[in-house]
Amino acid sequence: MVTAPVIAIDGPSGAGKGTVSQQVAQRLGWHFLDSGALYRLVALAARNHGIALDNVEALRTLAAHLDVQFRVAEGDGQPGVILEGEDVSGAIRSEEIGNAASRVAALPAVRAALLERQRAFRVPPGLVADGRDMGTVVFPDAEVKIFLVADAAERARRRYLQLKGGDPDVRLEDLLREITERDRRDTERSVAPLKPAADAVTIDTTSLGVDQVVERVMAVCEERLAQ
Ligand code: C5P
Repeated sequence: MVTAPVIAIDGPSGAGKGTVSQQVAQRLGWHFLDSGALYRLVALAARNHGIALDNVEALRTLAAHLDVQFRVAEGDGQPGVILEGEDVSGAIRSEEIGNAASRVAALPAVRAALLERQRAFRVPPGLVADGRDMGTVVFPDAEVKIFLVADAAERARRRYLQLKGGDPDVRLEDLLREITERDRRDTERSVAPLKPAADAVTIDTTSLGVDQVVERVMAVCEERLAQ
């Protein structure tokens, strides 16, 4: 079997993983996996089907049979996520679904059901994988492992700027509380907790712009991929 190289980019919510991972993938012409979208999709599908977030067996079945397609951005088009035939790219990005995703993500059965689906993204010429456990669990043999961090207050501020346009009622202190709570759940869960792999390079993005982070990640990639 041909195995393709992987760049694993992990870290807490709001550390800049999504934007940075997409830009690195674009620069290299590699595939991109947004693993958080899978957990968000399970949470959204559960809501659509009236499945409670503590109904482990139903959530496992849902995760195993998730009918999803990732539409790649072409030309001027935006990338899209299609769940059961419906474009849910916007719907999975809400804070409500993000928080529900972090609850379903704490269930070992759900994580196991999504494992092979994530590994299937590893195809030539290579994959940039964004998540919490890319370097520790899903791709432990990844050629490059990056762990992005940033102060919680800065992460809440970034989220606030993102959301404010669409929702004038959004409050910074609510976002900070939610981010802190989500960090706690992601870090303390017994299965695949959020933590850097032993061989990961940690980059603190608190005072860096996106371009600066992309440059640093590219520098690590060039060094590691050349070995
Ligand atoms: O990265 P994003 O905010 O989209 O992820 C939503 C939630 O999914 C996270 O808070 C986390 O609980 C979960 N997640 C995870 N493992 C991943 C990616 C996301 O547990 N690899």
